[in-house]
Amino acid sequence: MAFGVYVHWPFCAAKCPYCDFNSHVRAAIDEDGWADGIVSELQWTADNQTTRPVVETIFFGGGTPSLMSGKSVGRVLQKIAALWPMGNDVEITLEANPASADAARFADYRAAGVNRVSLGVQALNDTDLKKLGRLHDVAEAKAALAMGIANFERVSLDLIYARPDQTDAEWRSELKQALAFGTDHLSLYQLTIEPETPYALLHRNGQLKIPDEDLAAGLYETTQEMTEAAGLPAYEISNHARRGQESRHNLIYWRYGDYAGVGPGAHGRLHLNGQRSATAAIKLPERWRDRVAKTGHGFAELTAVSNDEAAREHLLMNLRLSEGLDLGAYEKRWGMGLDAAKIDALVEQGFLTQKDDRLTATPNGRLLLNRVIEALL
Ligand SMILES: C[S@@+](CC[C@H](N)C(=O)[O-])C[C@H]1O[C@@H](n2cnc3c(N)ncnc32)[C@H](O)[C@@H]1O
Ligand code: SF4
Repeated sequence: MAFGVYVHWPFCAAKCPYCDFNSHVRAAIDEDGWADGIVSELQWTADNQTTRPVVETIFFGGGTPSLMSGKSVGRVLQKIAALWPMGNDVEITLEANPASADAARFADYRAAGVNRVSLGVQALNDTDLKKLGRLHDVAEAKAALAMGIANFERVSLDLIYARPDQTDAEWRSELKQALAFGTDHLSLYQLTIEPETPYALLHRNGQLKIPDEDLAAGLYETTQEMTEAAGLPAYEISNHARRGQESRHNLIYWRYGDYAGVGPGAHGRLHLNGQRSATAAIKLPERWRDRVAKTGHGFAELTAVSNDEAAREHLLMNLRLSEGLDLGAYEKRWGMGLDAAKIDALVEQGFLTQKDDRLTATPNGRLLLNRVIEALL
């Protein structure tokens, strides 16, 4: 089974008002101390596995991992290589914020082994970047992109759409520019108003006019059409790639493979002591570090995943993908199949399509995936 390692770097230079990722702003960061914690958690994870799976992907996410030094990234990568056998062609991604993209550091990441960078561009006009609380402008984002392309084999960029006051024409022109950059992967996220963020407060007070449901659905359709025409169709709800350039790390999540998650707030799904397990680390960095220092890991949640729960998660993950679910493989893996009558009803209602043994969610079904899963199980 495919195995990946996720490393969470929980710090950002500033908190964006829409974001509820586990990201924190600190005046000073004892980088070596945080890297020590990550190295300990990797060691604990490997010590508690009964097998040594081959690492196929590594992903530095955040937060803003592009605030890490090349030395820390290299140290973490060396530890992973010392603990597990590495695949021939390991995909090593690092998420970068254009505001902290630095040519010398990019070269250090590359020397350390990073071969893919995912850049948080978010918007391609300066007014909107300001509204999003970003610390960079479009020119800096483009410079970071050029630096990414110069240093890494593979580059992806993130954009957020359905932003306050955004029209379909504006999004079309922005997406056209993004497609013209020529990267083989784009993550295009519809803005979500996350509870307890400054955006949620503004939205509640009527100070943030986001596209209504119809416009948002139209923007989603525009996104599908334009990316498909450019040869980067959606392979997941928000992710688009040229064939073969999909994020192999994220495919491990969505195909329900095994992955270790280390660092504050990271999640993992992997076999520990012979059992499929869920891990979730303490979110607050300082509490996480204290716990790691005492016990070797900072997992607040460390539980066995039952067969039923795993089957449910597998379904939920697989139906996010345009390739969908292989019904035969699913039945074989979990010892139970899906109810044909329930599938037929959801096909009839336009939420699913079935072709031979492949079950896929329609665009409508993908938007209401949790409800589809409830109806299916
Ligand atoms: C961890 S960040 C990427 C790296 C870096 N922290 C940055 O922002 O440049 C992950 C991505 O999630 C997306 N994101 C975060 N909050 C979002 C929200 N509320 N709605 C839609 N997309 C969001 C952004 O596109 C962001 O680039
Ligand atoms: S969007 Fe990125 S930079 Fe902004 S707070 Fe979230 S993780 Fe940090």
